[in-house]
Amino acid sequence: MNILLIGSGGREHALAWKMAQSPLVDVVHSAPGNPGMDEIGPCFDVAADDVDGLVKLALQIEPDLIVIGPEAPLALGLADILRARGFDVFGPSREAAQLEASKAFSKARMIKYGVPTAAYGEFTEAAPAKAFLRSMQAPYVLKADGLAAGKGVVIAESLEDADAGIDEMLSGKFGLASATLVIEEFMHGEEASVFVITDGQGAVYLPAAQDHKRVGDGDTGPNTGGMGAYAPAPAASEQSTARVKRQLAEPMLKGMAKDGLPYQGVLYIGIMITAEGPKVVEFNARFGDPECQVLMAGLAGDIVPAILASATGGLKGNEAAFESLLELDRFRPTATVVLAAKGYPGSYSKGSLIRGLKDAEKIEGVTVFQAGTDSGPDGALLANGGRVLNVTASGDTLRQAVDRAYAGVAVIDWPEGFCRSDIGWRALR
Ligand code: AMP
Ligand code: GLY
Repeated sequence: MNILLIGSGGREHALAWKMAQSPLVDVVHSAPGNPGMDEIGPCFDVAADDVDGLVKLALQIEPDLIVIGPEAPLALGLADILRARGFDVFGPSREAAQLEASKAFSKARMIKYGVPTAAYGEFTEAAPAKAFLRSMQAPYVLKADGLAAGKGVVIAESLEDADAGIDEMLSGKFGLASATLVIEEFMHGEEASVFVITDGQGAVYLPAAQDHKRVGDGDTGPNTGGMGAYAPAPAASEQSTARVKRQLAEPMLKGMAKDGLPYQGVLYIGIMITAEGPKVVEFNARFGDPECQVLMAGLAGDIVPAILASATGGLKGNEAAFESLLELDRFRPTATVVLAAKGYPGSYSKGSLIRGLKDAEKIEGVTVFQAGTDSGPDGALLANGGRVLNVTASGDTLRQAVDRAYAGVAVIDWPEGFCRSDIGWRALR
């Protein structure tokens, strides 16, 4: 089978790496890909949000399966357009992807289907938004409705800061994405990410992962796209996982299907494990990045049958068969450490030289996934983004996985990069 994979981040490098190991797969083509993905299969210079260019490319390659990694092309309706052309596509329709692309849409669906989440209000005017704030307790959670590259959430400690946040967002801090605002109750608890592969009817669950969103050790500093992850996350106990399935995932998938918006692809459920049980923090229409990297590296079995069935149907009633192909019971504890360019998530420079990836991969269990990289002259590897490398390792225990990942970090020669030194701390404490 030939696959066309859309995207160029660490998530897509991990997906390409994992799918290429499947006995079902001949070639993984990528667009636009990155230097790491180029070692797996051919990369085509078409941007992930260039819908016309991607359709043209698909017609040229005629892949048996198209896997869409990032949210931007999903929100643009790429999956619908490709399906209309007869392709099998892993990724939700534009309408179903609104679960990520519009927080107001997502909250309204959760309420409609009785899925536990934070109480909220939705606003386009400052005065009613500020009046609503006064019915809530600090800290105040403000969210831009639309896609804002993971930066659209403000958590304000005081009413003054929250008022200022409302004014900023409604006056266009995130452009159209913050023309509508969601204000939410603050939920206390531990977070985890749950990934459900679904064809809209049946569903297969991957082990829960935990991301590290803040830039600094001890979860300090501004939010980022994610500075590291590990799985399985012990925070998601067997009991809370059962509740996530029964109370969050199943009603959501059933409701969407019943309303004519069947969700096909991977549904990312960001959960908060509160004193009253798990609640939804957010839905995303794709794999998490860097959560995907630990899931792909930790999975012992084949992910392609589940991804293919999500695209073509046939999961319902056959979940156990797909789970056994995934070999979930043999999932290995895995951690990934993100190496980012100094300055990230603020401004940073590009073009610095990175060395030592192959040496890092000589360490048992270590794989380095590339994200913001570019190739320079004479095969040199250059930094080309904020989050640049994902040093990923599996082990017999999470402790061993984390130690191996940091041993990999130590041999990578990139003075312009930095990482958190405490990935996995909640599980290891
Ligand atoms: P989101 O983009 O909705 O996932 O929000 C980004 C981060 O903000 C989440 O991962 C949480 O750490 C935090 N957050 C969002 N909503 C809430 C909430 N209602 N209560 C507490 N923390 C939240
Ligand atoms: N790691 C968080 C996300 O992918 O949204």
